[in-house]
Parts: sequence; structure tokens; C-alpha cells
Amino acid sequence: MSNDCKVDCGRRRLVVATAAVGGVGAVVALVPFLSSMLPSERAKAAGAPVEVDIGALQPGQMMTVEWRGKPVWIINRNKEMLDTLPKLADAVADPKSGEKMQPDYCANDTRSIKPNIMVAVGICTHLGCSPSSKFKPGAEEGMADDWLGGFLCPCHGSKFDFAGRVYKSMPAPTNLEVPPHTYLTDTRILIGEDKKGA
Ligand code: FES
Repeated sequence: MSNDCKVDCGRRRLVVATAAVGGVGAVVALVPFLSSMLPSERAKAAGAPVEVDIGALQPGQMMTVEWRGKPVWIINRNKEMLDTLPKLADAVADPKSGEKMQPDYCANDTRSIKPNIMVAVGICTHLGCSPSSKFKPGAEEGMADDWLGGFLCPCHGSKFDFAGRVYKSMPAPTNLEVPPHTYLTDTRILIGEDKKGA
């Protein structure tokens, strides 16, 4: 071994040893961090209910929150949006929510607790893509002239109305899922739990 190598190789070993110790230190440091999470934080990560303030959500607007790692849409349907629902009764596959894609208290014409507020999991029931909002009626957003507004799945073209009901003859087999939810106040929704604590 040359004199140079004695110095340089020694330094290299020192660097490797330090990095390894640093790696162990990082793992050791992580364990107390995880175990220091509050029970509520651990529960949330595992899918605890999510509380949402919808006070600022104007008629015609939609917001998205995350629950159990999934996007959940909340839509404040205006009168024009609500008026489209009865018109589509013959065009959608399950107009009366016969399939169990919502809690019983949402198995109604609007698939919701309050007629204007729609809560739905924003995941297509075909292969799990996230549908895009196409709220404007007509051809303005690339839909057909007779489009009344709703959602279009970009993956294989499934169409849904403002209640998350799938149109007939689409790849998606069922309506969008409505998660369990309840109102804590007029403007606060708890998603993931209903009055029975489901
Ligand atoms: S994933 Fe939506 S239509 Fe296929």
C-alpha cells in the first residue's frame, strides 16, 4: 500500500463508517417520531372521519377533500344542476339508487342528505380513474350538444350526472360511491361517519 493510499483509503473508510452510523441514527430517530404521533393523527392516517367546512362553497361550486386516501367531492348544486336530475331518469343506469353505492339515507332522487349538497367519492367505478368535471351544459367543454352537465371519466369515457349516477351503456358498472357522512352544523360535514357512527 502506498503512503497516499494509507491516507486516502483511511479517509474513505472513515466516510463510509460515518454514513452508516448516520443511517442507523436516522432510523433510530424515526421510531420515536412515529410513536410520538397523537392517537388522533394515527387514526386519521388509518382513515378516521374528516371534518369539512363548506361555509364558503357557493352554489355551482365544488371542492375536493381527502378521506382514506381518496378524493371526496362536495358539490353545492345550484337550481340549474338540480333541475337536470329528473330529466336524466331515463338516461342513467340506476336512477333510483337500487345498487348499494350510498348509505340508505342517500338512496333518494338526489343521492344526498340535503338536496343541494352532493358528497361523492371522485373515483370512477370502472377502473378507478378520477372523472373530470364538465359542468357547462352543451358542447362548450367538448361534450355533445345535448349534454346537461356532470362528469366525464377521461380513461374510458364513462359519463356521470350531478348526482354521480352513471349513464346507461358506459364502462363504469355503477354510480359513484357516496361515503357515509353527517352534518355537525349547517356548514360542517363529517365525512366517514354517520349518525349511527358507521
Ligand atoms: S376508469 Fe373510468 S371509464 Fe374506465
